[in-house]
Amino acid sequence: MTLLITGAAGFIGANFVLDWLAQPGEAIVNLDKLTYAGNLESLASLQGDARHTFVQGDIGDSALVTRLLAEHQPRAVLNFAAESHVDRSIHSPEDFIQTNIVGTFRLLEAVRAYWGSLPADEKSAFRLLHVSTDEVYGSLSKDDPAFTETHRYEPNSPYSASKAASDHLVRAYHHTYGLPVLTTNCSNNYGPYHFPEKLIPLMIVNALAGKPLPVYGDGMQVRDWLYVKDHCSAIRRVLEAGVPGETYNIGGWNEKPNIEIVQTVCALLDELRPRADGAPYSAQISYVKDRPGHDRRYAIDASKIERELGWRPAETFDSGIRKTVQGYLANPEWVAHVQSGAYRDWVQTQYAAS
Ligand code: NAD
Ligand code: DAU
Repeated sequence: MTLLITGAAGFIGANFVLDWLAQPGEAIVNLDKLTYAGNLESLASLQGDARHTFVQGDIGDSALVTRLLAEHQPRAVLNFAAESHVDRSIHSPEDFIQTNIVGTFRLLEAVRAYWGSLPADEKSAFRLLHVSTDEVYGSLSKDDPAFTETHRYEPNSPYSASKAASDHLVRAYHHTYGLPVLTTNCSNNYGPYHFPEKLIPLMIVNALAGKPLPVYGDGMQVRDWLYVKDHCSAIRRVLEAGVPGETYNIGGWNEKPNIEIVQTVCALLDELRPRADGAPYSAQISYVKDRPGHDRRYAIDASKIERELGWRPAETFDSGIRKTVQGYLANPEWVAHVQSGAYRDWVQTQYAAS
């Protein structure tokens, strides 16, 4: 038995594969296009591990996906692949439409054909798990209750609109064709192997490089933060026990304004790697022009997954952010290779001989 996982050279997918293979379980076929966000160096510890097969390719390549499904006969497909960066979606939305909407549609079509060909027992056990985001629900005011699974979809950026469209397609394939799908909508993740254009890794990397720490607008936008390993354990649990056709919100019960996140990162760096001049890293904070259409507040009500599947996050924000900062300090090579672009050579280094 295998799992076909898409986008598992990215931040969350790579963490999921590492965690999955750290326990006994099925082998993984990892289909990833290796966009700028795909980094096989995050999976370097799996070098030579026969349980991980990497295939460079696009979820929108129907022939390739059909071939992989036929060859590997997975008992589940987990779709992490996406264009995921809100700021990039504002500058150039096209790739988001192509991968998040058209790519998901083509993946669904290939999976539907494969699923339809399975014998009855394998057909009923099969799952397609689609990894989505809390951003599909739009923005909350200060006192609004947190997003539940029944909150109306009100996406505000090209990224969140494209993810919303993919969620709708996944839902439709369940209702129309009976495809056994599961959808998860998670809040902001942080942790190891996070590409340093997102808030937390960008702040760590810029702080250490003596660069400004750009805070958008007034820095009072609120996000819910979840340590990535907790997101991975939630996905594992949903795959194991989620009810087909259901959606599950995943969050850390950790609502914080951005400026507080940045201040926390600065304080940890002051403690763990003080600046040579003795000044605090917070002196590098620089308020910059706001993101267009910036959502003010996200908050996830994760009580359904807790009540129905018994999942809760293991990390508090304090424990998770400390591990994260320590991790970046301990792994400067990974960061340096991302910054220099050398991570893009890893696929040649790793797979040249195969
Ligand atoms: P990421 O950008 O770090 O990784 C995405 C991966 O998908 C990359 O490896 C990239 O090469 C690959 N990819 C992109 N287009 C592809 C295509 N057409 N075919 C195959 N592979 C392709 O993203 P992430 O932060 O790891 O997010 C993973 C998933 O989780 C996404 O679906 C995202 O919407 C969702 N999500 C992310 C967060 C977060 O905080 N990062 C929170 C909630 C949900
Ligand atoms: O909520 C889940 C989403 O979280 C995921 O679906 C996305 O894939 C993921 O990228 C993330 O989206 P955000 O836009 O919330 O993440 P980002 O790290 O880009 O920004 C977090 C907050 O910090 C946001 O309010 C914008 C702000 N920000 C971001 C950057 C990069 C800054 O103030 N300065 C910055 O330089």
